[in-house]
Amino acid sequence: MSVVRLKIPTKITLFGEHAVVYGVPAIATTLPVYISISGEKIGGGIIRINVGKSLQTPIYSVILSRDRISIEPDQDHMKKVLSYILTAIDVCEEYIGITQEVYGYSIAIDSPLPVSVGLGTSAAVSVGTVTLCLALNNQITDLENSKYDIAKLAWSVEKIVQGSASPMDTYTIALGGLRYIEPSAPMAHLIDIDYELPIVVGFTSRTHTTAELVRKVKELRERNEGLFKEILKIIGKIVEEAKKALINQDLEGLGMLMNMNHGILQSLGIVSIEHNIIAHMLKNVGALGVKTSGAGGGGAFVALAKSKESQERLATVAESLGAKIISRSICQKGVEILR
Ligand code: PMV
Repeated sequence: MSVVRLKIPTKITLFGEHAVVYGVPAIATTLPVYISISGEKIGGGIIRINVGKSLQTPIYSVILSRDRISIEPDQDHMKKVLSYILTAIDVCEEYIGITQEVYGYSIAIDSPLPVSVGLGTSAAVSVGTVTLCLALNNQITDLENSKYDIAKLAWSVEKIVQGSASPMDTYTIALGGLRYIEPSAPMAHLIDIDYELPIVVGFTSRTHTTAELVRKVKELRERNEGLFKEILKIIGKIVEEAKKALINQDLEGLGMLMNMNHGILQSLGIVSIEHNIIAHMLKNVGALGVKTSGAGGGGAFVALAKSKESQERLATVAESLGAKIISRSICQKGVEILR
């Protein structure tokens, strides 16, 4: 049986994270940083999974006490990565109508990024595994036509594994490009721009999972629903203004909106001290806007530069502050099957 190979982009949220969980539209884009998945059918009901090194980190947890140093494999982390893959196979087989464990799969998966830094790695694993399972079972004749089905199935994988998730990550990664996400539909409309967006995307370490950070924001909402509703309205307005600024190539306006969105995320209590320092320093050296991207608690951030030259300066300063820079551009393509 032939091997299917996939290239899956990661993603960043430009505007509207957290509010999107409560039905407010958001803007996200795919990045040219890819996860690779390949697989074949092997029969016998066995699923063999080969997970690359970077997805395994942190495979070890270190326990220190006065008289003991113990380094142990981090079972929970590995279980989480594997649960996205196994759930995706279950969801997909149920969709196709495979009821017995007659098929087995051999799957190899690798990524240049660790999971849980807010770059959509888990959504990319879900989108990739769903696409792989559909392709291996001859369910894809035209990938472009299957992308909304893939996004929907991958979204249910995320909801099962995480407890809750908006459709933003899975729809953006399946379809690709700069997308205006309408979570209530759900739809991911392409924002068609014909210029290069001078962004710098990086990440710092993250101490909490997306699920924990989403729960933290939910607690805030429960304390004062009225105020929370007003905050959602403001985020919704920022997203609409940002869409216009993107279409009109108004980079100054876009930067200002990024700073506003960052300030609101800060008021929701999910921006780390490191990100605030990075935001402050990057603005000092000319960034038009800087914001935490995704669930927060550290993790991903995005800065907007005035020009290509200024982009390099921002990347150098962010790196000197301990961040890892992973992209200076967006990409147009969603999940791809390589032949
Ligand atoms: O940090 P990430 O890539 O897991 O993104 C989470 C984005 C949230 O809006 C906070 C949650 C969601 O489901 O959309």
